[in-house]
Amino acid sequence: MKPPRKLHIKSYGCQMNVYDAQRMADTLGGEGFIETARADDADLVVLNTCHIREKASEKVYSELGRLRLLKEQAAREGRNMRIAVAGCVAQAEGDEIIRRAPTVDIVVGPQSYHHLPQLLARAARREHAIETEFPADDKFAHLPPPKADAIRARGISAFVTVQEGCDKFCTFCVVPYTRGAEVSRPVADLVEEVSRLADHGVRELTLIGQNVNAYHGEGPDGTSWPLGKLLHRLAEIPGIARLRYSTSHPNDVDASLIEAHRDLPALMPLVHLPVQSGSDRILAAMNRRHSVRNYLDVIDRFRTARQGIAFSSDFIVGFPGEREEDFAATLALVAQIGYAAAYSFKYSPRPGTPAAELAEMVSASDMDQRLARLQDLIDHQQSAFNMAAIGTTVDVLFERAARNPGQVVGRTAYLQPAHVMASPDIVGSVLPVRIESLERYSLLGELALPAPRTEPKPSPISIGA
Ligand code: SAH
Ligand code: SF4
Ligand code: F3S
Repeated sequence: MKPPRKLHIKSYGCQMNVYDAQRMADTLGGEGFIETARADDADLVVLNTCHIREKASEKVYSELGRLRLLKEQAAREGRNMRIAVAGCVAQAEGDEIIRRAPTVDIVVGPQSYHHLPQLLARAARREHAIETEFPADDKFAHLPPPKADAIRARGISAFVTVQEGCDKFCTFCVVPYTRGAEVSRPVADLVEEVSRLADHGVRELTLIGQNVNAYHGEGPDGTSWPLGKLLHRLAEIPGIARLRYSTSHPNDVDASLIEAHRDLPALMPLVHLPVQSGSDRILAAMNRRHSVRNYLDVIDRFRTARQGIAFSSDFIVGFPGEREEDFAATLALVAQIGYAAAYSFKYSPRPGTPAAELAEMVSASDMDQRLARLQDLIDHQQSAFNMAAIGTTVDVLFERAARNPGQVVGRTAYLQPAHVMASPDIVGSVLPVRIESLERYSLLGELALPAPRTEPKPSPISIGA
């Protein structure tokens, strides 16, 4: 028997890439590859790249410089190392990558991962193998399901891509070009995939998509289902204790999603709802297609439906033409909403996007200064939000043994990490924890019940029977 070949995947960027990396590993597992945490002894290294900001995409080339040396070393030892570039830089730059870094054997865009085995065969014939089409065949229909041991190794919290691509064309963003048009996976496929995950110990599910609440997959009744209806269906799967979804666009929040937050206890009360800016003038220039008022109305609808619901967001500072008063409006919006957490970025012009043509650039020093002010405000809000948990008893889904001996770590409904001293047997259970203190971003507490309740284990349903 041939020894297994070793695969090393390094992912950058968003959760979609994390999910894709797992599906690539599942596909290549079928070709006799096993995963290794090290690049230097791998037979195949996949860089799963992100193109969202300049820094993210330039990182790829420095990493390729390092890999070239490893590949040369492998060749001296008589081993063949192949290097593949996947993800959004692969899609955006295509064969330009091989021109800049001839050490690369394979370039594969995000919609073509099911073609990896053929691309590898081409690389073995020493041809450069490039595939960045948006193929007519659907990758999800062709990627093999993960094996039971792979699911268990990945832990109790899983991501599942339910929707991919984006039709919104915000003027700063590369995603509609790198991931293509919006497509949704059929409900039946997702029910099957999630049931399989739940059968092998997954308790928390995050449905992901570049524009997840634009989901409109085909339901078993032949009609198109919105995200809220999909969440209702997935909540029925035995074993699934918690549901989340990311990332949403304010314009696609429909009644079904609001109702899901009202009616589904498993749907966690934390919504990632990027707004980008608090200035209507800038929102229009970004082609966000909503105003600050529209965004506040959406927040109100969530708050009316579910007590205790909290929000996180993304912001861009220094979009071309952003004046001090526009930025002040962003700070005012953040102050008004009070976020549990938020990410903020300096605007980065991306080739091929309409905003990259805009001349009125904000100076680097203004950008730095605005980013620091915004992050300061967000940090204060996040600390206040975390401090408010001290003295309360909250449900924690335990994920794994912590680095500190004797501690187990899990997450609250709001994704705050929470540590307790307990036996690792509680991994996979949702248990009430009395929160006693906060250490940086982590909550520390004690199990509120003397003896941990045992959660009902998912019944062993066999899929496809
Ligand atoms: N689909 C999501 C996320 C897209 S990318 C959404 O619609 O919000 C994640 C975040 O990166 C965006 O929300 C935005 O804040 C940021 N981002 C995207 N393009 C950027 C650019 N050119 N420069 C700086 N930040 C950017
Ligand atoms: Fe990019 Fe806008 Fe689509 Fe989000 S909604 S992925 S920011 S184009
Ligand atoms: Fe990056 Fe592509 Fe995700 S550009 S953020 S990896 S969709």
